[in-house]
Amino acid sequence: MKLLVVGGGCREHALCWSLGQDPEVKKLYAAPGNAGTALHAENLPVAADDIGSLTALAQELRPDLTIVGPEAPLCAGITDAFGRHGLSVFGPSARSARLEGSKSWTKALAQRYGIPTAEARSFDDPLEAISFSRGFPFPQVIKADGLASGKGVFIAADFSQAQQAIASLMQQRLHGAAGRRILIEAFLEGVELSAFALFDAKQYTVLGAAHDYKRVQDGDHGPNTGGMGAFLPSPFVSPALLRQIEESIFSRLHAACTAERLDYRGVLYAGLMVTREGPFLLEINVRFGDPEAQVLLPSLETPLSEIARATCRDELGRLHLRRHRRSLVGVVIASAGYPENPRLDDPILFSDSQTPTSGTQGFLFYGATKRSQGVLRTAGGRVFTAVGWGNRLVEARKHAYDQVDAVSFAGMHFRKDIASFLAGLPVPEPEA
Ligand code: AMP
Ligand code: GLY
Repeated sequence: MKLLVVGGGCREHALCWSLGQDPEVKKLYAAPGNAGTALHAENLPVAADDIGSLTALAQELRPDLTIVGPEAPLCAGITDAFGRHGLSVFGPSARSARLEGSKSWTKALAQRYGIPTAEARSFDDPLEAISFSRGFPFPQVIKADGLASGKGVFIAADFSQAQQAIASLMQQRLHGAAGRRILIEAFLEGVELSAFALFDAKQYTVLGAAHDYKRVQDGDHGPNTGGMGAFLPSPFVSPALLRQIEESIFSRLHAACTAERLDYRGVLYAGLMVTREGPFLLEINVRFGDPEAQVLLPSLETPLSEIARATCRDELGRLHLRRHRRSLVGVVIASAGYPENPRLDDPILFSDSQTPTSGTQGFLFYGATKRSQGVLRTAGGRVFTAVGWGNRLVEARKHAYDQVDAVSFAGMHFRKDIASFLAGLPVPEPEA
């Protein structure tokens, strides 16, 4: 098989790494890729959101399958554009990608199909939003409707914070058109979880659930990021909770997709808050999470090409998904200034006592990196995800941090509490 991976972060390196182990994959391309995808694929210099150029490229290369990492090309219609040329894509159409691209549309869908979600109202007019906010309980959550790279959500403790958030989204247009419409939502207390399922037009298969660490500093302090670490399986996710997630979230979402004729084919990521009353849907993403993919993909034994092909052909019913029985921990290594203002061009060094890509107990996935004149340099916020695996979480954690130790660059930072701290509670180590 010949495959194309679209995107250039750590998640896309994990996708290429996974496909690189797959005996069915004879040729792999990445667009644009990064210094890490280059270890497994041929990088092609086309931006992930340039649908016209990607379509032209794919017409020339004729990949058997394209796997799309980030949401932007999906929301911009890459699946539809490729489909018009008979090219198959693992990832939903633009209409289905509204599940991530419009929070108000998804909220209305969840309400129509009985999917547990926080009470919310959407607004196109800032004055109406402010007047509603005044009478709604605090804390309240104020969200830009459109794509804002995970940065369009504010938790307002009081009315003055709410006013500020509404003004910055709707009037100052902090995230451009994404803030034309906003949602004001009830605040939910609980433990956050990223749950993943494969969806095809006929059925769904649950992949698993991981914890993501959104705040930049240890102990969940500091500003929100795209994610600073992830691990699985979680001692918090009992078989009973997983069944509940399947029944009240995925099964109803799949029924909603069928009733709305969305023909969703790809991975669906449900951002959940597990409250005392059970799991509630916070948001849907129409792609793998980053960094969740970096721990989820190495947990799968079934080759990714087989998974993607079955999904695109509506054959999930025939897929027998096999998983490795191991724990995985991923630690994101970020550049100086991330998330506010990531510094670029810092040269990256590896200690020669450890080869970061050895792959026996872990793996170093490259993200925002570039190679110029033979030197590897930072090229954005999240530079690497160091992943470790082992029979138990403590072992996986040690192997992840061993990978971190092998990397150095000026201003690098990472959380030291991944897989040892969960929403304010220490993670209990499961029985051996
Ligand atoms: P979202 O992009 O909708 O997932 O929101 C980003 C982050 O905001 C989530 O990961 C949560 O940490 C937080 N959040 C979103 N909605 C709520 C809510 N209703 N209650 C509490 N926290 C929330
Ligand atoms: N880790 C959060 C995300 O991928 O959206």
